[in-house]
Order: sequence, then C-alpha cells, then structure tokens
Amino acid sequence: MNVLVTGGCGFIGSNLVKYLRRARPDWTVVNLDALTYAGNLENLAELEKDPRHVFAKGDIADRPAVEALLKKHQVEAVMHLAAESHVDRSILGPEVFITTNVLGTQRLLESCKAAGVRRFLMVSTDEVYGSLGPTGAFTETSPIQPSSPYSASKASADLVALAYHHTFNMDVVVTRCSNNYGPYQFPEKLIPLMVVNALHDKPLPVYGDGGNVRDWLHVDDHCQALVLALEKGAAGEVYNIGGGAERRNLEIVRGILKALGKPESLIQYVKDRPGHDRRYAIDPTRIKRELGWSAAHTFEQGLEATIRWYVDHPRWWERVMSGAYREYYATQYGHAR
Ligand code: NAD
Ligand code: TYD
Repeated sequence: MNVLVTGGCGFIGSNLVKYLRRARPDWTVVNLDALTYAGNLENLAELEKDPRHVFAKGDIADRPAVEALLKKHQVEAVMHLAAESHVDRSILGPEVFITTNVLGTQRLLESCKAAGVRRFLMVSTDEVYGSLGPTGAFTETSPIQPSSPYSASKASADLVALAYHHTFNMDVVVTRCSNNYGPYQFPEKLIPLMVVNALHDKPLPVYGDGGNVRDWLHVDDHCQALVLALEKGAAGEVYNIGGGAERRNLEIVRGILKALGKPESLIQYVKDRPGHDRRYAIDPTRIKRELGWSAAHTFEQGLEATIRWYVDHPRWWERVMSGAYREYYATQYGHAR
C-alpha cells in the first residue's frame, strides 16, 4: 500500500514513519511536511537511502501540490498528523493554529477527495473533550468542549473531517489520543522540557500547583493504534486512545529529577497557564474491544527509557532548540526555559 503521512518529521510523525517501515515493510510511505520549527528531517536520517520512504517538503494547504503528490504516488490512504501542536504557543499566537489545523485540514481533505484517496485517518486529541473533574474518563460520546485555541482548532478539524464523511461519503476515521511521550519530542512539552532543564541545572517551571493530570501514552503504543485504526477502523467512527497512565505533573517532574539525581529545589512554581485544563483521562474500551489494541509500555519503564534517550542525544535537542526557538521564548516568557 502507498500511504501519505502528513507531519512525518515531527515527534509522533517521525516515530510513525519508522514504525511503519518496521511493521509494514511492503508499504511505501510518502511523508509530506512543511518543516516548521517542530519538523526535523534528521529524525529520519536512518531512512535517507530507503526507497520506500519518500520525503516531500510542502504545506498541507497547498492544494495543487498535494493533489499532484497524491496522484504521482498513487496514494491510497492518508494518516494526517501535520499540525501546530503546542497549547502554550496557541495562547501566544492563535492564528497559525486556525490556518494550519482547520483550513489546512479542510484543504487536505479536498485534495484527497479530488485524488480519490480511499481512506483518511484524522489524528485528533483528547483535548477536544475539554477538562475533567477528579473522576471519570472521556469516551467517544463525551461532549466536545475544547478550552484552548489549540484544542478548539483540533476539534474543528476533527469535525470537518467527520463532515466530509457524512456529506461527501469520504472514508474517514478519527482517533483521539492522550498525551504522548517518547524520543524526538520537541523540548517545549512537559517531559522533554523538564529533562533538558534538569540536565542544565536550570529551574523546572511547573504551572500552578502542579496538580494537573494527564493520561500518558507511549508514542510507539500510539503508532500501533493508528495502524489498527487505519486498517480496521469503521468509516465515520471515532476511537479514543489512552495509555491508562494518569499522573499529576508534579509526580512526573519529581520522577525526572530523581532519575537524573538532581535536587527538588530545581522545581519552580510559575504562573498558571490561562484556561489550564485540570485533568484528562481516556476510556480506551472501544479500541481495545473492537480493534484489539492494548498498550505495551508501562509508564515507569517508558519514562525511564525516554529520559535515557534525551541524556544520550544532547546534540539532537541542542540543535532543535537553537536559534529561533530560544528567541521566541525569551521574548514571550518571563520565567526560565
Ligand atoms: P509536532 O509539533 O511535533 O509535529 C508537527 C509536524 O507537522 C511538524 O513536523 C511540522 O513541520 C508539520 N507541519 C506543521 N504545519 C504543517 C503544514 N502546514 N503542512 C505540512 N506540515 C506541517 O506534533 P506531534 O506532537 O508530533 O503531533 C502530531 C499530531 O498528533 C498533531 O496533529 C497533534 O495535534 C496530535 N496529537 C499530539 C499529541 C501529543 O501528545 N504530542 C496528543 C494528541 C494529539
Ligand atoms: P504539555 O506538554 O504542554 O501538553 P498539553 O498542554 O497538551 O497537555 O503540558 C502537559 C502538562 O504540563 C500541562 O498540564 C501543562 C504542564 N506544564 C508545566 O507545568 N510546565 C511547562 O513548562 C509545560 C510545557 C507544561
């Protein structure tokens, strides 16, 4: 099969491309990525000479180019991951989130419709459901109540994709996953940022009281779920994906400091994120029952391996964090980064 992965040079996308090369070696993976600050072709250096990985630099919103790419490679299925993905950035500058995540997704859907793509997998997020209280978990029928410009843009894209199924009979499957962790995540998200700051003996900025809860999913478990959803998911349906690993932010930060032998005095409580969702938790019953998925990683083992990966790859994160990224945060945030 020939599959197009969008955003294949980002965190989840690059792990997915490599996962597909291992798990579906007879597939050709066309990787469309605009190489924003979050996209890094070096993540895929090992595939440089692989004839079954085709990289195309481009914008998902560029209809003629995308349609030509789909036709040229006779793409049968699209796994759509390209997005602006960071909540804090969406608070500082929402517009690009609407442009890329909403308009970009709609244009990509149009290109896929025109090129006769057989299946479209929309990679969405549990953040579309908004925030939970202390108990309960999101199911596929939980109300859509996004809080941040990021989650509102993803909810819009996810609903537009479902509308293309209902209106134009396109074969669309939507997945909504919880927070991913693993190698190659840009050090602006909680886990890699805290590891990198701790390695530099810099303060670890914990928002609010550190009691916010996220439900952590190892990126490889996510990739496995995405392939199952692509191959076996029912058209027009939604599948929640969660690792069953709810943790408070403070627990994670303390665990990172302990693993690195650093003192808890590095923790710095900073002003809370505006509109900060308190708790996310996923009920993955549907994907387990209907598609036979389960997470292979425990959070403790996965976190340990992830911390080790960052310790072993300083050149990777030094490079991706250099230049524009540093300047951006230096002007936007008063606290340590
Ligand atoms: P990321 O920010 O690491 O990567 C995004 C990629 O998309 C980058 O390679 C970037 O260059 C590319 N991109 C951005 N705009 C583009 C455009 N207009 N055209 C083509 N490419 C473009 O993101 P990620 O963490 O890997 O997330 C991937 C997807 O998974 C996103 O859709 C995100 O909303 C979703 N998701 C992520 C998480 C998570 O924990 N990381 C959780 C739930 C859902
Ligand atoms: P993040 O990795 O940005 O993912 P998301 O906002 O999509 O869940 O943040 C995860 C949690 O960590 C969230 O509750 C915000 C918190 N956080 C901090 O406390 N400090 C930080 O510097 C960052 C980036 C996040």
